[in-house]
Amino acid sequence: MEKIKETLDYINSKTNNLNADVAIILGSGLGCFCDGLDGIRLKYDEIPHFGNSDVKGHKGELLFCEIEGKNCIIMQGRFHYYEGNSLQVATYPIKIFKKLGIKTLFITNAAGATHQGLNIGDIMLMSDHINFMGTNPLIGKNDESLGERFPDMSNCYTKDLQILAKSCAQELNIDLKEGIYLATTGPSYETAAEIRAFRILGADVVGMSSVPEAIVSNYLKLNTVGFSSVTNFATGVSENKLNHQEVLEIGKITSQKLSKLIKLMISKI
Ligand code: HPA
Repeated sequence: MEKIKETLDYINSKTNNLNADVAIILGSGLGCFCDGLDGIRLKYDEIPHFGNSDVKGHKGELLFCEIEGKNCIIMQGRFHYYEGNSLQVATYPIKIFKKLGIKTLFITNAAGATHQGLNIGDIMLMSDHINFMGTNPLIGKNDESLGERFPDMSNCYTKDLQILAKSCAQELNIDLKEGIYLATTGPSYETAAEIRAFRILGADVVGMSSVPEAIVSNYLKLNTVGFSSVTNFATGVSENKLNHQEVLEIGKITSQKLSKLIKLMISKI
């Protein structure tokens, strides 16, 4: 709680006690969401108790700006478990955003498709997830003032926001897919055998993030919506070898579609 207070004091001193409505976590290659947006920028390394993110394609700063009349906090780059951050550190910003007033969290990520019912460049609405990380961000002593010990997960991804996402996609003529995101720790990509197993488990895409954030967002009783940008076919689904550069490039293309969709949703929240 002392740490949270220090982080909040610092942010409030820079933003003039701004009260936020919405936060958006941008995944790999999705940084172009911020093009043309002006506001207050804070580098992660200047914010007390924030983690470190130095993955290529992640900028490492918070942008406080207005979109469609709503005060938004945009996280340009997240803290991954595979970087050596604990899941408590990886999800700490969400606790801060809640204290800054947000009611809604948008989670975005780059992900690989486990089957060919999805195409590279698709946007997939996360209808649910499978936590295959073998750990959970809520492990440890629980602070009852933040949330309950054993949170229900049946509405982790807010139904009303899923309905809104679909209607906004229709309005924008975006072919929005829908499916299940499975998270591994990474950083190695999956083997072909793992992808076959994940497909049987019900996963449509795989990635290395987002699930801890969704768990904490649900714990904090925030409205949560998640989108995957399908940047590649997962191992064995196509002949291609995976590389991070390709993930970034496809992410950039999808980013424009996804930006429009999120901005329209924000205007209607
Ligand atoms: N696997 C895991 N994480 C990913 C992938 C993938 O194929 N693509 C983008 N992030």
